[in-house]
Amino acid sequence: MKILVEEALEEYAFQVTQEEPENLQKLVTLTYEQMDFPEMITGRVEGRFLKLLVQLVQPELILEVGTFTGYSALSMAEGLTEGGKIITCEIDPKAQKVAQEAFDRSPFGHKIELRMGPALETIRQLDQAIDLSFIDADKENYPLYYEEILTRTRPGGLVIIDNALWSGQVLKPQDAASKGVARLNEILSKDNRIENVLLTVRDGIQLVRKKW
Ligand SMILES: C[S@@+](CC[C@H](N)C(=O)[O-])C[C@H]1O[C@@H](n2cnc3c(N)ncnc32)[C@H](O)[C@@H]1O
Repeated sequence: MKILVEEALEEYAFQVTQEEPENLQKLVTLTYEQMDFPEMITGRVEGRFLKLLVQLVQPELILEVGTFTGYSALSMAEGLTEGGKIITCEIDPKAQKVAQEAFDRSPFGHKIELRMGPALETIRQLDQAIDLSFIDADKENYPLYYEEILTRTRPGGLVIIDNALWSGQVLKPQDAASKGVARLNEILSKDNRIENVLLTVRDGIQLVRKKW
């Protein structure tokens, strides 16, 4: 991920955002030691943001597309009330192992159910309305994920979409991933079922509220 704001400001935002718990700091270290693309991890600023949103929305069911090593799922689980649940989707067995071990070590891990396999299949099997979702996986499928998730989201529910600026490539989309992200941004700007705002935080975060 290309840093879009000046690196010193990104570092400043990190320093003045409250620290995540020690288990999450350890998960960052572990991810950098064990994974091939550790920079995919959401990290402190976005993780604390997700936790805050969960505290505000008080969801019963959260759906996450793209677990990786579990950092964002654990951040959201921290903000979730007892009885709330997160279903998180992953296809990479290596990421699954690291994430499941992190969930097992965490006091919030019991709220998270990791489902292996293509996310679209998992989403299509859901039989409960989604209150909040976080989309953070294969970018070419972003428009598909959005539509499948929105139809299963309760009115007033929140859809959060990561990498909405895709390192700036949305300005001139060339490959399938950039085209997927840019296409979804376009769809959102014209979708009267929702209200949205694209926040230029980190790599861009779309906040989408379903109206009805
Ligand atoms: C950017 S990472 C997710 C980062 C994670 N949210 C975090 O906070 O650390 C994207 C993840 O999506 C997974 N992924 C990609 N395509 C997928 C698919 N079709 N179904 C489920 N997971 C997928 C990848 O294996 C990768 O671990």
